[in-house]
Formats: sequence, C-alpha cells, structure tokens
Amino acid sequence: PTIYIITPTYTRLVQKAELTRLATVFKSVPNIHWIVVEDAQVKSPLVTKFLRSTGLNTTHLLSVTPPEVKLKEQDPNWLKPRGVLQRNTGLSWLRANLNADYHHGVVYFADDDNTYSTELFHEMRHTKVVSVWPVGLVGKLRYEAPILTNGKVTDWHTLWYRRERKFAMDMAGFAVNLRLILENSLAKFDITAKRGFQETGLLQSLGVTLSDLEPKAKMCTEVLVWHTRTEPAVIKNEDKMPANGYEQSDPNVEV
Ligand code: UGA
Ligand code: MN
Repeated sequence: PTIYIITPTYTRLVQKAELTRLATVFKSVPNIHWIVVEDAQVKSPLVTKFLRSTGLNTTHLLSVTPPEVKLKEQDPNWLKPRGVLQRNTGLSWLRANLNADYHHGVVYFADDDNTYSTELFHEMRHTKVVSVWPVGLVGKLRYEAPILTNGKVTDWHTLWYRRERKFAMDMAGFAVNLRLILENSLAKFDITAKRGFQETGLLQSLGVTLSDLEPKAKMCTEVLVWHTRTEPAVIKNEDKMPANGYEQSDPNVEV
C-alpha cells in the first residue's frame, strides 16, 4: 500500500527548512506519495523547485485561505484553524485521481512543522480503517495518547476537551485507509469547526467509531511523531547591515 501524505504549507522564512526536514524522512520510506498544498494563489518557485529536487513522488496543489478565516500576525494562534482548506484540497485530489479498485493505501495529514520518524510510517502502512498512536510534545503535556482497555481505545490521555471530543487527538496522531476516504466522498474538514475539533469532525464524517481504531506504536506506548513548532526566523539585522558599511544578504540566495 502507498502512503499518501497531505501537507499544507505556506510561505515564510523557515519554509524550506521545514520541507527539507520532512523530505529527508520521506526519502527513507518506500512507496510514499507526497501531496503538498500551498496556501497561496500561485505555486511558488521555491516549493516547485524543492519538490522536483527531492526525487520523491509528489503532487503540488494550491488552496488559498480566504482573508476572513486567515490568522493574522497579531492574532493569538488558537483563534483560527490552519491548514483546513489545504487538507480538503488534498482529499479532493485523491477522489479525483484514485480509484479504490486499483489504488490501495493510507492517508496521513502531516503538517510541515512537526517531526516525523521513519518508524511512524512503517506503523501506519497497514491500516485497515483508522490507526492511532501517541503524539509527543502536544496539548501542553509530555505527550497525548489513546488510552487502551483490553487492546481497544476507550479514552484519550489529554486535558484539552477530553470529554467533548470523541477522538481527542492531534492531526499527527492518526491515519485513514484510502478506501474509506474514497467511499465517503463528502467527508472533509470543516473550516467553521471549533479549534481542536477538526480531527473529530473528519472521523465522524467518515463514520468511524471508537471500536474501529487500530492502536499502533507498541499499543500506543511509543512516541514516533512530535508536535514541534518552529520559532519564526528573525532577520532584523539585515536592515542594520548598510549602516555598518556591509552589504545585505544576497537576495538571489534562496533560504
Ligand atoms: C495545531 C494542529 O497540530 C494542526 O493540525 C491544526 O491545523 C492547527 O493547530 C490549527 O490551528 O488548526 P499548529 O502547530 O498550531 O497545529 O499549526 P501550524 O503548524 O502553524 O499549521 C498547521 C498546518 O497548516 C501547517 O502545515 C502549516 O504550514 C499550514 N498553514 C498554516 C497554512 O497552510 N497556512 C497558514 O496560514 C498557516
Ligand atoms: Mn504545527
């Protein structure tokens, strides 16, 4: 089975570094199809060139977040959801281009700032319905994880909306069988859903129940993915270079 990885991404100074970290891991995993969805009106030269340079099987798509739902620089980061429309664009591409009779695989939503181990992909590859595992450094805890009783998921190790969310886990904590995505052609993420309810909303629209969940990563005792967040790059010394008699960094050098 192929692993279809859907990654929303947007232009900022750290973008190429983020994508490089992901690609380095993906290159060491067989049979990956990386669907990268830029939050932009036009495909950026940086992402276009980068994807080509990886040698990976990639699809480059676009989906722009409209201004009324886009997070502004001053906004607290919990105000509006991110990556939602981009993930839906990835789902639409799968439905338009794949057929459940010929294509077998699993779909994983991989944000560009997280840290992924190669083992994570070995764990998710043979997912029958939905597989789940712990995520490190998320929810203001050391990790969040499914809680198992007799080998089945019965609860969630999290503080955040634990009782309110049917699937109280992060985007990085689950993968879905491709057939489920193709057969439930209306299932998608909901841009109006409250933050933290994206994962639950999608899985409910796919008709998934708790008993469908397949625990991975040594029965959910191992952390194989981390919800890292990259500090924004600060380049304020660029402006001070000329005043000190130095040249600014060459704009032709891609960072
Ligand atoms: C948390 C969750 O881990 C995400 O899955 C969830 O989408 C997000 O909250 C949310 O607020 O909805 P967090 O680290 O806070 O993640 O969010 P980001 O990593 O900044 O953004 C998630 C994805 O959307 C990233 O791949 C990012 O590149 C992309 N993004 C972000 C855009 O495409 N456009 C933006 O304007 C911002
Ligand atoms: Mn993130």
